[in-house]
Amino acid sequence: MELTELSPALLSLREEAKKGRDPTCADETLAYLLALCGTRSPARILEIGAGEGLTACALLSACDARYTGIELDAVRAECARHNFQRFGLEARATLHEGDAGEILPLLEGEYDLIFSDGPKVQYLRYLPDCKRLLKRGGVLVSDDVFFLGKDLSAVPKKRRMLALHLAEYREQLQNDPGFETKFYEYGEGVAVSIKR
Ligand SMILES: C[S@@+](CC[C@H](N)C(=O)[O-])C[C@H]1O[C@@H](n2cnc3c(N)ncnc32)[C@H](O)[C@@H]1O
Repeated sequence: MELTELSPALLSLREEAKKGRDPTCADETLAYLLALCGTRSPARILEIGAGEGLTACALLSACDARYTGIELDAVRAECARHNFQRFGLEARATLHEGDAGEILPLLEGEYDLIFSDGPKVQYLRYLPDCKRLLKRGGVLVSDDVFFLGKDLSAVPKKRRMLALHLAEYREQLQNDPGFETKFYEYGEGVAVSIKR
């Protein structure tokens, strides 16, 4: 499914969300995720940082997968539940409201597609659970991995910790023999890691 084939109501919610503090993923990133759903027909999708459920609604519109999302913010979680109902997707969507660091270790089973889009400073902490929960051949898509750019010396001191964290995350993904990772310039950068 192409981005333009999504329901006009969902596209308009996306435009609104892009103006907010924790916006929904970039168009290019969503287009890539939609293409993945088309080629891979995932049976189970996990999203860390579900936000208002807009990416979830798009992906569930594009395939028959079941979806599990984790969202810390109660208002966004409520909004996500409302959106699942609005688009008739609630039967395939489960939302855990709370801290991904606490919820991820409790999840079981295997996922075909994991979209890591929660707090960037926690990506490394979430990685072992993402790996554990990912099916062999499954795909981990990590959003915003080039947030703050690639040149650490150009990052203001205040943001250096986060930039270092993301640099280490990229390095771990690239050097992990259990993953085959490629980086793309979609939005603020996307890492696509296939579990070997
Ligand atoms: C970039 S937004 C997610 C957008 C969403 N993935 C989408 O594409 O529409 C990041 C989300 O992570 C959530 N978040 C922040 N810290 C979290 C945590 N510790 N556990 C779970 N979610 C968290 C934020 O509340 C926010 O909604």
